Amino acid sequence: MLFWRVKPLEAILETAERKALKRTLGALQLTMLGIGAIIGTGIFVLTAEAAMKAGPAMMISFVIAATVCGVAALCYAEMAAMVPVSGSAYTYSYATMGELVAWVVGWALVLEYTVAAAAVSVGWSGYMVGLVREILGISLPQALTSGPFDRTPGLINLPALAIALFVTMLLVIGTRESARFNAVLVAVKLSALLLFIVLAVPAIEAENFEPFMPNGFFARNVLDPISGSLVTVGVAAAAASIFFAYVGFDAVSTAAEETINPQRNLPIGLIGSLAICTLIYLVVAAAATGTVGAQPGGPLSQSKEALAFVLRELGHGWAGDLVAIAAGLALPSVILMMMFGQTRIFFVMSRDGLLPAVFARLHPRYGTPHIVTWTTGTFVALFASLFPVGALADISNSGTLFAFFTVAVGVMILRVTQPRRERHFRTPAVWVTAPLAAGGCVFLFFQLSGATELMFLAWGLLGLLVYALYGRRRSHLAPGYVPQAAE
Ligand code: ALA
Repeated sequence: MLFWRVKPLEAILETAERKALKRTLGALQLTMLGIGAIIGTGIFVLTAEAAMKAGPAMMISFVIAATVCGVAALCYAEMAAMVPVSGSAYTYSYATMGELVAWVVGWALVLEYTVAAAAVSVGWSGYMVGLVREILGISLPQALTSGPFDRTPGLINLPALAIALFVTMLLVIGTRESARFNAVLVAVKLSALLLFIVLAVPAIEAENFEPFMPNGFFARNVLDPISGSLVTVGVAAAAASIFFAYVGFDAVSTAAEETINPQRNLPIGLIGSLAICTLIYLVVAAAATGTVGAQPGGPLSQSKEALAFVLRELGHGWAGDLVAIAAGLALPSVILMMMFGQTRIFFVMSRDGLLPAVFARLHPRYGTPHIVTWTTGTFVALFASLFPVGALADISNSGTLFAFFTVAVGVMILRVTQPRRERHFRTPAVWVTAPLAAGGCVFLFFQLSGATELMFLAWGLLGLLVYALYGRRRSHLAPGYVPQAAE
C-alpha cells in the first residue's frame, strides 16, 4: 500500500554507497557547522520580537524553545547515528513511516531550510543597510532595500537578493572551502556575542525585569499582519517565534554522508552545538533585558539591531558598531548552512526518484550537486527579495516543527519495530524524551499565528499534489521500477 511504501534501512544505506559524497568532516567541524547554522537572525534580530511579545519573560520563551529543541536533538542524534545518510528527517521518515510521510516531511523541510535562508538574508540586509548609513552616511533608497510586503514597503530587497546568490556560489565551489569559510565566521559571531556579554552583564539592574510578564503566558489577541492592529500575545507565542533562533542544529545531520565516523561525530555535533548556543542565548537575553529593559512597545522591542542598540544605550557606541559589523559578516554563514541542508535533502529525494534525477547530478570538477544548489539559491533569493524577516521566520518554524515532530515519532516507531538494530547513540529515557519532543512541537506549532498555519497547510496540500502527479510513479520503490545504469 502506498502509505506503507517503507524504504528498508539496508536499502537506504546501500543507495548512499552507490552515489557517495566525499567524507571530509570531523566532530569539531560538525560542531562548528552546527553553531554556524544556529546563531544568527534569531538572537541578533528576533530578540526584539520576543521582547515585543513576552517582555522580560522572553527569557522563559528562550528556555521553552531550547527545551523543545534539546529533546528533539536527542531524538535526531539517535536517528542520525543509526542512519548516517544525508536527508535528515526526510530519510528517517522513509525508513519508519513510509514514502508518503517522507515526501511530506521533505516538502516541509523546504519551508525550514529555503525559507529560513531567505529570512536570514533579509536580516543581513537590514544590518548592512544600517551599517552603510552609520559608517558611510549613505541612506540607500527604501524601494531597493525592502520587499513589497514589508511594514515599510519597497519594490525589492536587493542586498538580500545579492547575499543569497553569493552564498549559492560558495556552495557550488564545494563543502571543504565552504566549511572553512564558515569556521572563520563562527569565530567572528562568537566574539561579538562574548563582547556583548562582557560589556552588558555588569550593567544589569534588577528593576529592569519588572513587570516580568506583561502579556501573561498564554494571553493572546494577535492579528496584525502588517498592522490591522490588535496584538498582545504572550510568553508561549514568543517561544514559537524565537524557536527560529535554535533552528539549524539539524543541518548537522544532513551532512551525515560527508562525515568521518558519523556514529560518534554526529551526536557530538548535534548536541554540542545546541548546548553551547543555548547557554550563550540565555546570558545574552538576560543581559539585554537587565540593562535596557524589554517591555513590549519599549525601545528594545522596536529595534532592528537589538544587540547593537543595547550597547549604544550603555554608552559603548564603538562596540555597538563592532557587533553590527560582526552580524553583517557572520549571518552569511547561517544562510550557507541552511542552503547546504536544503541542497542535500533535494539531492537525496532525487536519488530516491521522488524528484527529477537531474537534481542528483554532481559538478564534474567540484563534486557538488550544483544544479540543485542553483535551483535552491534562486528560490532563496526570490523569497528574500520580497518578504519581511518575521513572516519568513515564522513560516520556516512551521516546517521545522513538523519535521522535528516526525523524527520524534520515528524514533519511537523504530524502537518498537527494530529493537535489536545497533544504535550507536540511544536517546536517553526515550519514552519520556520522544513524547516530550513530539508534544513540544505540536504545542509550539499551535502558538504560531493563524496565517502561518494556513500557509503551512497550503504548502502541504501543494506537496501532496506534486507527489500524486510525479513522485508516486517515479519513485524507485514504485512497482516495476528498474534501476538505470546511470543511477
Ligand atoms: N537559528 C538561525 C538563526 O537564528 C536560523 O538565524
